[in-house]
Amino acid sequence: MPLQTLDWTEALAPLKVAKSMPAEIYTSPEIFAAERAKIFLRDWFFLCRTDQLAARGDYRAFDTPGGPIVLIRGQDDVLRCFANFCRHRGSILLEGQGNTGGRVVCPYHAWSYFSDGRLYGCPDMQDAEGFDRTENGLVPLALDSWNGFVFASFDRAAPPLLDHLGDLPQRMASHRLDLMRCTWEFEIDVACNWKLLLENAMETYHTGIVHRNTVGAQTQRPIPTRGDWLCMQVLSTTSIATMDRSVEPLPMIEGLDEDARQGTYFTVIHPTCQFAVAQDSMWWLNVTPVAADRSRLHIGGCFPESTTALPGFAARARAYDDRWEKVAREDVGVLEGQQRALASALFRPGPLSGRDDMVQAVGRWSVERLLRDT
Ligand code: FES
Ligand SMILES: [Fe+2]
Repeated sequence: MPLQTLDWTEALAPLKVAKSMPAEIYTSPEIFAAERAKIFLRDWFFLCRTDQLAARGDYRAFDTPGGPIVLIRGQDDVLRCFANFCRHRGSILLEGQGNTGGRVVCPYHAWSYFSDGRLYGCPDMQDAEGFDRTENGLVPLALDSWNGFVFASFDRAAPPLLDHLGDLPQRMASHRLDLMRCTWEFEIDVACNWKLLLENAMETYHTGIVHRNTVGAQTQRPIPTRGDWLCMQVLSTTSIATMDRSVEPLPMIEGLDEDARQGTYFTVIHPTCQFAVAQDSMWWLNVTPVAADRSRLHIGGCFPESTTALPGFAARARAYDDRWEKVAREDVGVLEGQQRALASALFRPGPLSGRDDMVQAVGRWSVERLLRDT
C-alpha cells in the first residue's frame, strides 16, 4: 500500500468532522517499512534509566527496529550504546542484561572489545592484509539522557535530546525525576501496531469501560506542549498510580507545583515512548515496534529515592506494580482485538469524539513524519 494512494483528508480534518486513520497505517508492511526509514531510524527512542546500569561494566541488550543494540557502562563510568554485533562476522555479542567484567568477548571466535567499544583482541588475524584494529571497534549509536532517562538514536546527527523534549523538562521540573529510581519492570508482547498502544494511553474515553473494575472513569485536560511530545493530564487530587485503597499510598513528591498537584501527566514522547507522571511516582510505557501488527511493550515504575528508603516500601509499592500490570493487560486485550478488526476487508474509518483529540494528535505526528521529504 504506497503512501501516496492513501487519503489523509478526513483523518487530519478539524476534530469535529474528523475520522480515524486509514486502516493501512496500522496494518500495511509497506507503511511499517516507511516508518522504519523515516521515524525509527531517525528519532530518539527511550531505553531505560541510568540507575538500572549502576556499576561499571553493566550492560543491557535491546532489540529495536534498527536491529539489536547494547547499552554499556564503561570502566570510565560513561554510558555508551553500540550495535550489538561483532565486527568479524556479525555474531550477536551480549544477551539480556548483566556485567561485561570489563571486556566484551564474542561468543563465536572470541574477538574482544573494551567496554568503550575499541577492539581489544582478535586472534589469528595476522594474515589479513590491511586489517586495522582501530577501524574495527563496535559501531556506536547516538546516546543522550535527561534526568536519568536514557535515549538512543540511529542518526548520529540527530538534534540534541533536549531540543526533542522541548518544554517537557519545565513541565516536569517540580517532580524532580532526576531523584527517582526504577523499582519495577514488566514486558509483554502485544499483537498490535505500535500506534494503537500510544493512542490508547492518551484518552480517558475508554477508561470507565475497559478499566471499570480497576481505575474506572477518568477525566482529562489537554496540556499545550512545545517540542516533539504531547501531554494531557488525568485529573485527580490523589495518585491514580495505585488503586488498592486498603494499602496506605506512598507520600506525595515534595514541592510539586500547582499544576502538578492536579493529577497525572500522560505523555507521548514521539515516536514510541510514554511517561505517566503522578504526584508520588512515574511509570513509563515504552513501545518497540516489531512489525505492522506486533509490538513489545516495556513498562517501568519509578519512585523518589527517598520513598524507596521508607520502611515497608517493597510491600507498599506492590499495590502500584499490580495496578500498572493489570491496567496494561486490560488495554492489551482490547488493542489486540482492534488490530484484528482493522484488517477487515470492510473496515472504514469512523467518526471521532471530542475526547479523541490526543488520539488524532498521535496519528497526525506520524503521518506528517511519513510525508516529510527529507
Ligand atoms: S563473529 Fe565474532 S569473533 Fe567471529
Ligand atoms: Fe487504558
